[in-house]
Amino acid sequence: MKIGVLGAGGIARSMSATLRGMRANGEDVELWSVGSRDIRKAEQFAKREGFQKACGSYSDMLEDPDLDLVYIATPHALHAEQMLMCLERGKAVLCEKAFTGNAPQAEKVLQAAKEKNILTAEAIWTRYMPSRGMIRDILASDEIGEVTALTANLGYTISGVERIIRPELAGGALLDVGVYCLNFASMVLGDDIERTCAVGTRMESGVDALDQITLFYRSGAVADLLTTALCTTDRYGVIYGTRGFLRVENINNPSRIEIWHPDRSHLFPSQVLPVPHQITGYEYEVRACMRAMQEGQIECSEMPHEEIRLFTES
Ligand SMILES: NC(=O)c1ccc[n+]([C@@H]2O[C@H](COP(=O)([O-])OP(=O)(O)OC[C@H]3O[C@@H](n4cnc5c(N)ncnc54)[C@H](OP(=O)(O)O)[C@@H]3O)[C@@H](O)[C@H]2O)c1
Repeated sequence: MKIGVLGAGGIARSMSATLRGMRANGEDVELWSVGSRDIRKAEQFAKREGFQKACGSYSDMLEDPDLDLVYIATPHALHAEQMLMCLERGKAVLCEKAFTGNAPQAEKVLQAAKEKNILTAEAIWTRYMPSRGMIRDILASDEIGEVTALTANLGYTISGVERIIRPELAGGALLDVGVYCLNFASMVLGDDIERTCAVGTRMESGVDALDQITLFYRSGAVADLLTTALCTTDRYGVIYGTRGFLRVENINNPSRIEIWHPDRSHLFPSQVLPVPHQITGYEYEVRACMRAMQEGQIECSEMPHEEIRLFTES
């Protein structure tokens, strides 16, 4: 599978390390091409990260008939237009979160994917990780009883980062980090939300700096979420059941899951589950795309198009 990276920035470097790790494991991935608005930047990136081709524009990269899968690694506001460019040229695409800046853009992309019958996936990595199945299995085992509430937070001090500040790049805390809190809640409690209450603060540029979101589910469960670009938070997600609770360390890349039974101890968890060793954590979304493409699917079951639609609409 020949993979191209569109946009030679920060996350593109993490994905490159992932692909090198997958190759070292003997997996069928090739670090094929990188596209940048600046040819010198593309050349330096290709050399440093181990890609075979460097392209001085995104469209040049997409003209390549050998390229199989494009990973889009640019600011949010550009995702829709770039996914459409990929689909127009017959390229399968894995696009970084947030999928698009708004719901109409997402709808346009998903329609195009359907019409062209080409894989289009959102790189929301937590959806593809083994921790998701681990949490699901613990909840199904009734270890903590019926889930009635959860809390999750994710914040980093990123209010000085250009793509977070600028409204025209679809910046703000919600699209950058809040999506992880929302995905955490959705993976546990589903999407049957009766009511949403949200308050927040803004940066001088007008984008959201901090959001406090409460989701009320028709089941009666409640999710309380805090996301911010103003400070670094502890990143915990806690799922409260009638007989105990689960504490997930780092909802942005779970490192361990603790099962607590307060009737036994408030001081120590009953069980601590480490997650499997990973290259970086991005390998799972790449593998999901490869699987889906081999099966002729246009979506990944881990984050189907209907879920993407629901997310961008809400
Ligand atoms: N999954 C994760 O854990 C994770 C972590 C961080 C970020 N992300 C996501 O990855 C995406 C990129 O984030 P990043 O931190 O890698 O961003 P970044 O380094 O600031 O920018 C990525 C690249 O986008 C390209 N770009 C195109 N037009 C641009 C414009 N008008 N202004 C700025 N850059 C432009 C640039 O590439 P060229 O100059 O080479 O064209 C730039 O290097 C976002 O969607 C973000 O949410 C995901």
